Amino acid sequence: MYPDEGGYAWGVDFAPYLVRPERWEEIPPDWAALFGRAAPLAVEVGFGNGEFLAEAARARPEWNWVGFETSLTCVVKAGRKLGRAGAAHVRLALADGRFALRELFPDETVNRVFVHFPCPWPKRSHAERRVMDAEFARTLATVLQPGGRCELVTDVLGYAEDAALNLERAGFRIAGPQVGAAGPGTRYEAKWREQGRPIWRLVAERGTKGSTLRIAEGTMPHVRIDRPVTAEAVAKLVGLKETWPGGAFVVKDAYVAPDGGSVLLRAFATDEGFEQQYLVAVRRGAEETLVKLDGAAVPFRTPAVKRSVAAIAAALEEGRCGP
Ligand SMILES: C[S@@+](CC[C@H](N)C(=O)[O-])C[C@H]1O[C@@H](n2cnc3c(N)ncnc32)[C@H](O)[C@@H]1O
Repeated sequence: MYPDEGGYAWGVDFAPYLVRPERWEEIPPDWAALFGRAAPLAVEVGFGNGEFLAEAARARPEWNWVGFETSLTCVVKAGRKLGRAGAAHVRLALADGRFALRELFPDETVNRVFVHFPCPWPKRSHAERRVMDAEFARTLATVLQPGGRCELVTDVLGYAEDAALNLERAGFRIAGPQVGAAGPGTRYEAKWREQGRPIWRLVAERGTKGSTLRIAEGTMPHVRIDRPVTAEAVAKLVGLKETWPGGAFVVKDAYVAPDGGSVLLRAFATDEGFEQQYLVAVRRGAEETLVKLDGAAVPFRTPAVKRSVAAIAAALEEGRCGP
């Protein structure tokens, strides 16, 4: 069900720990099948260089551990750490943890979620990038099991207080933020302690179960047009865009193959602030044209991504070009 995910070219030592959920046909996946055993699930969002994840996985070998990071460098560093530790019960993904936690775990299946020193994004204009917002609290209330917990450690008291408010509103029982507790032993903890900054810890236990809207699907969208379309016509779709409440997409560039038989369109899509960049391939056959997501940059199949594939095909079918 889960093909070899070790196709990364960064080295074999940590390839077994990497998963590429954007390529899975089944979302949410069967985590027990993926790990090869059923075990309590613990998730870390923003694991950085992986110090906590490696140590926690060593300390709790009876749990299955999943980490999400948006930095490729961090994924590589943490992967190497895990590779050296030989921790077979850990999986890492290069993914936005807010989206991944909501989309990749069925209701009430996660035992623990850890968030350590999330980027505080203090400016109001950057606030939407914060991990622990109201939507994340709703996701936690949905995916955590009864009695499941989220643990936040941060050097920014205001961040912990905002998170506590959001979690309380989502029905959590809150302990903290308290200062001085032992942290996760990460690079950032060491950095802030060295600077004499207080370290705040917040533990939130799930109360009533929450609910959240999931938007990703496994099915790959594709459309067949029953006639060949020229590369020039496809290239003229650069600039094609649509916006609607909560979503948008735009076609940014076109790359035409030397033989003109296929064109890759680079597109951006956003669903409720979740942004993705990907390629849509338009392949010309003798009697038809296929419009589909290209394997070189596969996105999660969200409504905006699916809408972009359909809109590109519709524009080609109608002979429309450009925005
Ligand atoms: C300040 S660092 C802390 C790293 C680590 N937890 C530590 O304590 O050393 C914050 C990390 O969160 C990651 N990050 C930020 N937003 C994220 C998101 N939405 N999903 C997953 N990781 C994220 C960043 O790439 C960065 O590595």
